[in-house]
Amino acid sequence: MKTTKISKSKFRRMLSWGWMQKAKTPTCPNLPTLTNKIVAITGGNSGIGLETVKGLLARGAEVIILSRNGKKSEDIIKSLNGKVHFLEIDLGNIRTIEPAVLKLKGILNERKIDILINNAGIALQEPHRLSPQGYEMTFAVNVLGHHILFKECQSKLLLTHDARIISVAGDIYMQADDCTPNYKYEGKSGVSAYSRSKVGVMWWAFECYRLYPDYKVVAVHPGVVPLGLGANENAFFTCIMSSILLSPKGGAQMSLICATQPNIESGAYYHNTLGKTILPENDIALNKEKSKNFWHTLEDIYAKDL
Ligand SMILES: NC(=O)c1ccc[n+]([C@@H]2O[C@H](COP(=O)([O-])OP(=O)(O)OC[C@H]3O[C@@H](n4cnc5c(N)ncnc54)[C@H](OP(=O)(O)O)[C@@H]3O)[C@@H](O)[C@H]2O)c1
Repeated sequence: MKTTKISKSKFRRMLSWGWMQKAKTPTCPNLPTLTNKIVAITGGNSGIGLETVKGLLARGAEVIILSRNGKKSEDIIKSLNGKVHFLEIDLGNIRTIEPAVLKLKGILNERKIDILINNAGIALQEPHRLSPQGYEMTFAVNVLGHHILFKECQSKLLLTHDARIISVAGDIYMQADDCTPNYKYEGKSGVSAYSRSKVGVMWWAFECYRLYPDYKVVAVHPGVVPLGLGANENAFFTCIMSSILLSPKGGAQMSLICATQPNIESGAYYHNTLGKTILPENDIALNKEKSKNFWHTLEDIYAKDL
């Protein structure tokens, strides 16, 4: 896979990847397979997550989908070929996570998760909403819920010692300068909360890599998928955007590459059009002090609210 050193200019950076999404996005090779591997993926019942699940099943993995929406998910599972389970979880309500992980332990039946894909995400939440525990909802689902899922899996010894942890971020993170549990955006678009949550995802992945060097931890930019988050219901707009941007299947490729390929580097950021990216030194995602403090914030919530 190619390596790209990213420009310090955000404008040039956006131009370099925004153009020709379809042509520049690689397709994950069919080999190696994932026979005998177990993958847990959040948000695997629609969009990029569902296409990732299909790609994992096609490569022989056993897949556990963690999402809300039991009925929809059960129906989707019936349409899939392969060994696939569904587990109901609401990442926005952290009290649902420990019970779900106990059920996950039951499904695993002494086996362990080889690959954890933190894919679920919400965006453009308007109006501003709080989680049942009082945290800004985009932060709660996109970052906090995934942190608690990871910690619960880890404390219950459900991850292999060298598990791959793939966090689906989004280059929109570069618009943000912080990520906090109590961000308020009344009167503004939820995009700011979304970009902040994604810088949180980047910090989370890089801090996880530093704290747990045995795992292979990566952050991924899947590409821009018009039918996914923030999709416009207008058919004409969707048609135009679909011709320029990626399909959900295209958006699944980078997660699949990171899940399957041998030469994936831990602590790196993989981008659908830029490959392994070398971020500029002043990039917000590389701020070690902020990411360390951010991890502590998540740990404090974990200790206090669970
Ligand atoms: N689409 C893009 O252009 C784009 C660009 C960059 C990054 N990304 C990232 O890629 C990932 C997938 O995006 P997508 O476009 O495929 O979005 P999507 O089609 O809206 O899917 C989001 C998934 O998250 C799940 N989810 C939402 N809230 C949840 C909750 N509280 N608990 C558990 N699961 C929850 C949803 O399932 P239920 O609602 O059934 O629970 C759904 O499966 C996200 O992390 C997104 O930020 C997307």
